[in-house]
Amino acid sequence: MDTTFTYPFPMPTNYQAPGIPSTQPQPTTPPSKVEALIKKNKERIVPKLFQPITLGNVTLKNRIVVSPMCQYSSVDGFMNDWHLVHHGTFAKGGAALILFEASAVCPQGRISVHDSGIWKDEHIAPLKRIVDFVHNFKAVAGIQIAHAGRKASTVPPFLDNGRALMKEDKGGWSNVEGASPIAFNSEMLVPHELTCDEIKRVIEQFKQAAIRVDKAGFGAVEIHGAHGYLIDSFLSPTSNKRTDDYGGSFEGRTRLLMEIVGAVRGVWPCDKLLMVRVSCEEWVDDGWHIDDTVRLAKMLKEAGIDVLDCSSGGNSSTQHIKVAPLYQVPFAERVKREVAGLGVSAVGLINTPEEAISVLEQDRADLIMLARPLLRDPFWPLHAATSLGLDVDCCLQYTMGKYT
Ligand SMILES: Cc1cc2nc3c(=O)[nH]c(=O)nc-3n(C[C@H](O)[C@H](O)[C@H](O)COP(=O)(O)O)c2cc1C
Repeated sequence: MDTTFTYPFPMPTNYQAPGIPSTQPQPTTPPSKVEALIKKNKERIVPKLFQPITLGNVTLKNRIVVSPMCQYSSVDGFMNDWHLVHHGTFAKGGAALILFEASAVCPQGRISVHDSGIWKDEHIAPLKRIVDFVHNFKAVAGIQIAHAGRKASTVPPFLDNGRALMKEDKGGWSNVEGASPIAFNSEMLVPHELTCDEIKRVIEQFKQAAIRVDKAGFGAVEIHGAHGYLIDSFLSPTSNKRTDDYGGSFEGRTRLLMEIVGAVRGVWPCDKLLMVRVSCEEWVDDGWHIDDTVRLAKMLKEAGIDVLDCSSGGNSSTQHIKVAPLYQVPFAERVKREVAGLGVSAVGLINTPEEAISVLEQDRADLIMLARPLLRDPFWPLHAATSLGLDVDCCLQYTMGKYT
């Protein structure tokens, strides 16, 4: 018996999907706490957070995105029932785009032995099962494709000694790969400096991963160029000391990312979203800075990406991050102001509906990505709408639980 879920009945004509403002009349006066933010447009009752947006050739039902979150719950890279329930809950909760966790393009590119992967065709079917489920709720499923570089082979953060090296008898590996033979910190391995031939192999692995992502039915793919993993370690002058074509100048250090984007763009359909996450600021004086990001963003737009996902940090063990609510939003804002036509998402300590709305209404970003707020409350979009006095659909089967 096929247990795959699809609606076993025709959908009611007045029902749309979780997280879409309902077809019922909306309140005629916005609640006071939102009023100030949306007064620019007196006609608009629904804040941008709950308005659809088209980026590239994809329309999202609202602006709420599930930020990629490693679950460290896979064996041999396979997603399983945990991931079905995990992502399925976000789909029921009303997010518009659900980015599945960093999934390794090769086994040694995993952060831990329990990471998910996309390095072989056998990974496709279990992914497709989850993607199909998510798509039932008019959410777009996307996935982050990644290589952990010199930060590979560690213990999942929620286990004892989290982030320490994983011993080889527990599934760790010693052949970690990087831009230059410089360890992330004194507890991590010195990576093998990739040769130019090996770099070509990595680019091919990203390309093959994107082909598999497409076959699994995803509507979005995100290349992980942030947080000190392989691509980020090539971008930064603190971790990339190469003297060949892939190091030295800005062009040299960005070459790996640009070649990966070119290879993925070549196989990734134009009617699906192509995204890149970068660490906009390294938070060390001699490192990668927001000016570099803006310059890179212009190149990435020309190369055909649809959205730049603006995160920060993770490449230096000596970073000093000034953590505060919305602390990474200024990076998204700079990119949005200076790179016209490129979709921009903001992430990091955006916790409340008011904070999310303020970012969007002030045109500081196009999308709001949430990670920990959605772990605390996968129904954050529905609760946000309720707190704003908006009537949005919840998933059909839960209609009787709707706030009235
Ligand atoms: C459990 C967990 C796993 C994460 N895994 C990833 C990941 O796979 N890829 C990634 O780029 N960021 C990852 N992150 C970072 C988040 O995507 C996000 O950028 C960060 O948590 C800041 O957003 P927040 O304040 O809404 O949590 C992870 C964060 C958490 C909490």
